[in-house]
Amino acid sequence: MTPEEIISKHPRTNDNLLNILHDLQNNHPEQYLTHEAMDKVAQYLNMTKSSVYGVVDYYSMLSTQPRGKYIIRLCISPVCHIKKASGMLAHLEQTLGIRAGETTSDKLFTIEVAECLGQCQEAPSMMINEKVYNNLTEERIKEILAQYK
Ligand code: FES
Repeated sequence: MTPEEIISKHPRTNDNLLNILHDLQNNHPEQYLTHEAMDKVAQYLNMTKSSVYGVVDYYSMLSTQPRGKYIIRLCISPVCHIKKASGMLAHLEQTLGIRAGETTSDKLFTIEVAECLGQCQEAPSMMINEKVYNNLTEERIKEILAQYK
């Protein structure tokens, strides 16, 4: 689908801004929002470009940078932090050979850090795209990543 097709399937109301942006991002092979696409959204909803860019900046789930096929979002909020999320992050970074915010050269994985994923009772937690993984250990991360390779 082209960006125009994705945008125009949503009713032309500002309430749909986030839905349109998520749809555009999910449909881009590198899972991000181009400036061209954001400008088209602004035009479609009759909003200023800066309003749309501001919303994209505000929501950590939205990105203006190309990302991998699988986006790993590791929670670093307090409960996960206490349960050694920083060690899990270091393990992810070492295993994939990238730092948080970066994408592997094969464009398969991007690591991001995230605020609370609402899984505190089973911390530490991460998401890969829409799927949640809890009770992380180094061994469990190894098994999880193997499913995506
Ligand atoms: S603090 Fe990590 S899921 Fe809530």
